[in-house]
Amino acid sequence: RTVFVNGEYLPEDEAKVSIFDRAFLMADGVYEVTSVLDGKLIDFDGHAKRLERSLNELDIRKPAVFDDLLEIHRELVRVNGIEDGLVYLQITRGAPGDRDFVFPDPETTEPTVVLFTQNKPGLADSPAAKAGMKIISIEDVRWGRRDIKTVQLLYPSMGKMMAKKAGADDAWMVQDGYVTEGTSNNAYIIKGNTIITRALSNDILHGITRAAVLRFAKEAQMQVEERNFTIDEAKEADEAFITSASAFVMPVIEIDGVSLGDGTPGARTARLREIYLDESR
Ligand code: PDD
Repeated sequence: RTVFVNGEYLPEDEAKVSIFDRAFLMADGVYEVTSVLDGKLIDFDGHAKRLERSLNELDIRKPAVFDDLLEIHRELVRVNGIEDGLVYLQITRGAPGDRDFVFPDPETTEPTVVLFTQNKPGLADSPAAKAGMKIISIEDVRWGRRDIKTVQLLYPSMGKMMAKKAGADDAWMVQDGYVTEGTSNNAYIIKGNTIITRALSNDILHGITRAAVLRFAKEAQMQVEERNFTIDEAKEADEAFITSASAFVMPVIEIDGVSLGDGTPGARTARLREIYLDESR
């Protein structure tokens, strides 16, 4: 596999990043995941805009290659022959010579830029989309700026492990009694013809897939309510689902051991997934 590191295309085993990189020492970096279907990048502009915002919020300088990122994504998809899969992009505050809590001088420390691809044949036909996902709820103990897509992913990773241990597929995180989001996705319930999902704030990531799906839902004459909901309300919903760049729209069939509806993926969720895949490709 060919990867991109700090201006160079390299075989993955020749790519190097400093041990002083602030993402390695302090999780001081941001990332994006853009999916690829039929060799085509899905919603690149949305991901690039959110990346720019994440960098701004953390005062990380835009790297010199920022304006070439689309070209770099396309080149990696091409050289690695990706039909279905994803491109992972990470930008960090860079690697000053020492470990220091104080940010390095942006004049002398260039951000680190890393991109690689992951091949996922048949990404859009994943068996999970037909089977549906089982969710557990866990407390949301992440920091307060979840709108910034940082590489601090330890708690989401632990959440996923808690779910696996409990025989489930993923976890929804709960803060002050209300669902924030999934470990790596946004969370939704459906009651009747209404899709309910938490409103945008610093408490959740502003999902690129979320924006597209809510737009398509309105076009398909479904109602959208952006408001808080509890796990108890979710357990009584007709349907539930998650969205992310890598999962698209994925049905949820069980929450904390309680089956939703008849325990199979809901019809409205299936329809939304179909519309999303049709419109995005
Ligand atoms: N995760 N919320 C969280 C906490 C996420 O990590 C993600 C994405 C989303 C969905 O955002 P989008 O629709 O823009 O992918 C919501 C990516 C896919 C990941 O970490 O792999």
